[in-house]
Amino acid sequence: MPSDSTSNSAAPNGGQSSAPAKVKPNLLVVDDEDGPRQSLRVVFMNDYNVMLANDGIRALELAKENKINVAVVDLRMQHMDGIEVMEKLKAVQPTIEVIMLTAYETIDTIRQALRLGACDYLNKPFDIAAMRKAIAKANERHIVNEAIRANNEKLATLQSELHNQRLQEEIMKVRGEIYGSILHDINGPLTIISGYIQLINQRIGDTHHLEGEELQAVKDRLNKITQQVGCSIDISQRYLAFMKQQASPASRVHLNQVFKDLAELLDVHPGKGEHKLKIDPLSPDIELQMNGTDLIQILLNLTINAFQASPRPHTVEISAKLCDGQVDLAPIKDGPNDRLVREGFNSNAKLVALSVRDNGPGIAPDVIGKIFQPYFTTKPLGQGTGLGLSIVQRLLKEAHGALHLHSRVGEGTTFTLYLPVP
Ligand SMILES: Nc1ncnc2c1ncn2[C@@H]1O[C@H](COP(=O)(O)OP(=O)(O)O)[C@@H](O)[C@H]1O
Ligand SMILES: [Mg+2]
Repeated sequence: MPSDSTSNSAAPNGGQSSAPAKVKPNLLVVDDEDGPRQSLRVVFMNDYNVMLANDGIRALELAKENKINVAVVDLRMQHMDGIEVMEKLKAVQPTIEVIMLTAYETIDTIRQALRLGACDYLNKPFDIAAMRKAIAKANERHIVNEAIRANNEKLATLQSELHNQRLQEEIMKVRGEIYGSILHDINGPLTIISGYIQLINQRIGDTHHLEGEELQAVKDRLNKITQQVGCSIDISQRYLAFMKQQASPASRVHLNQVFKDLAELLDVHPGKGEHKLKIDPLSPDIELQMNGTDLIQILLNLTINAFQASPRPHTVEISAKLCDGQVDLAPIKDGPNDRLVREGFNSNAKLVALSVRDNGPGIAPDVIGKIFQPYFTTKPLGQGTGLGLSIVQRLLKEAHGALHLHSRVGEGTTFTLYLPVP
């Protein structure tokens, strides 16, 4: 049997008015009997764009092509009954409001229809006034639900933007601290330089000629000054290199230099307390293919987390190992003691494995699955933001690296980072 056509009724007033025609809401009528279908079409064609379907299959086709506000669905139909049609329609468009047409159904069936999402039901043969009221109410509900849905979507977008912003702010804050510490390093050589210049000035005084011992002493001091100037230039160049590299995918950094900067930063960090920190430089040193500040930031977050894991003094060890051949992370599965983070990982690259290992309290199996979630923290208010590991994850992704976390309660925690070597 051919399905009914859609009644795209002509503009009201026979085209006499010049006022723009209002967009009519779409009303879908699903009934395998022709009588109710046609009578609903005639009654509602002025106010709604009425679409007719003689079975569930045609109804679904129409719902896939058109935004439906309200569907009037006969409960008893062959092949696909009204409840199944309603469920399938709502799967396509969750905000469709469904009014059930019932005949001899038991109250239980009607209850089931309402429980599954029908907003109303009317007995056949239906009263036109009651039907008009039911459809108008359903349409209002649809409009409100659509508005809620649109607002929820906007809210979700806004929340994700805010989260990104917050993460970016945290990254910039730590970046500032790292830069500050590097700049601070320049104070040492500058103080020495200024001391030697004073000494030279004293020696020279008003003398116009320098000879012998006097001349040698001034020459020695000038040598020391030259050394310290070299040192300051190194530091400022390192600092400038960090700054310039910020957005460059081709950034390179010497691993042992990162370890050295990290050690200086952590040495004065308030989180260090009585804990021990051991950093093993790699011999021979290697270059890594990532931004130096990002790597310091990753290691800083992991080490401070390890310090903060318990007030009881424990040891945190940072070490590096060049991986031979390709690293196969496939056997590492998320479980009660393990987590793998590998979004953006380039497994074809040559890799170095950096590990941050602590013999602290470890992470409980029911917590391990949550710690990478943004804002998740087990620390008291004011101590943890819950963003540290999100930052690690983001920076690692940008560097095409991966991370394996292994932790056992009572034994400690090891974070192993796999990073590309050029
Ligand atoms: N080395 C570790 N030992 C024990 N727990 C850890 C360790 N590293 C991370 N965690 C857990 O992961 C949680 C989330 O860490 P993070 O994202 O850095 O946020 P925050 O440090 O602000 O809590 C911590 O609150 C802690 O429970
Ligand atoms: Mg942290």
